[in-house]
Amino acid sequence: MNVKKTKKIVVLATGGTIAGLALDASQPQNYTAGQVAVADLLGSVILKGLDVQTEQVAQIDSKDMSFGLWQRLLARVAHWVSQDDVQGVVITHGTDTLEETAYFLQTVLQPTKPVAITCAMLPANVPDSDGPGNLKEALAWTQASDSQGVYVVCAGQVHPGQTVQKSHSQQRNSFTSQAPVTSPLSLRVPSVAQVLACKRWPRVELVLNHTGADGHLVRTLMAHDAPQGWVAAGTGNGTLHLDLEAALLEAQNQGSIVLRASRCAWGGVQSRDADVFPHAGPLTAVQARVALWLHLVSLHAA
Ligand code: SIN
Repeated sequence: MNVKKTKKIVVLATGGTIAGLALDASQPQNYTAGQVAVADLLGSVILKGLDVQTEQVAQIDSKDMSFGLWQRLLARVAHWVSQDDVQGVVITHGTDTLEETAYFLQTVLQPTKPVAITCAMLPANVPDSDGPGNLKEALAWTQASDSQGVYVVCAGQVHPGQTVQKSHSQQRNSFTSQAPVTSPLSLRVPSVAQVLACKRWPRVELVLNHTGADGHLVRTLMAHDAPQGWVAAGTGNGTLHLDLEAALLEAQNQGSIVLRASRCAWGGVQSRDADVFPHAGPLTAVQARVALWLHLVSLHAA
């Protein structure tokens, strides 16, 4: 008899609160992220009929995510999704920069298998931690899914990696998303090989419009170590204080690429006749920064 072998799921662990430990379980807010090894995290999850392989890619608080670690993670995800005996990949990640990693992996890799990123808002050793449930859900979703791409599986919800945002700083279901729409920006996307080969990261800075935004920060940086890109998180429809706009125009004239996004969580930016900078359409300021960074990686590689 020919028995069909179950394909395996590979869990790539990067740290986060899901692997965090509180000193005192009654004070879950006082904890250190990235402490529990992935094998131990899986030990608390019942894995009926699943073939799971694990890799500890990193053990960090995701506020400390770096481009070097993104490279490493991209290489491991690309490797595993290309294996015939792999059904999909689960990534455990801190919630804080998860949306950037999700956008980055989806944009560069566009995996042809399910890649589920999961996380937790409570450390692993508090009695009602959400980590084991989220990990179990991510494994079950990956096992059953024929989706292609990066998704975030958390708190009973599945979000597209391209548009997911951490929009609540305390709730267990801290993520929201919308259906992906095409960005009007014609930014280049480097190949996986180009990202992996990149040794000098382009610098793209994020600047916020606000009352009294005078462009001082932009002018100071341009005078010392000019970034190759700027994303301005404008007010409302991406509007900028006249003084900040003047400083960013100077930066653009000095060769930096400037993009305009919105500091509002949802809605993006629409064109207006008076626009002096290209806008990032539906992308959030944080996503626009990753998109511009990737564009620069591709330009440098060409
Ligand atoms: C982190 O992002 O690593 C810490 C916060 C979290 O996972 O919720």
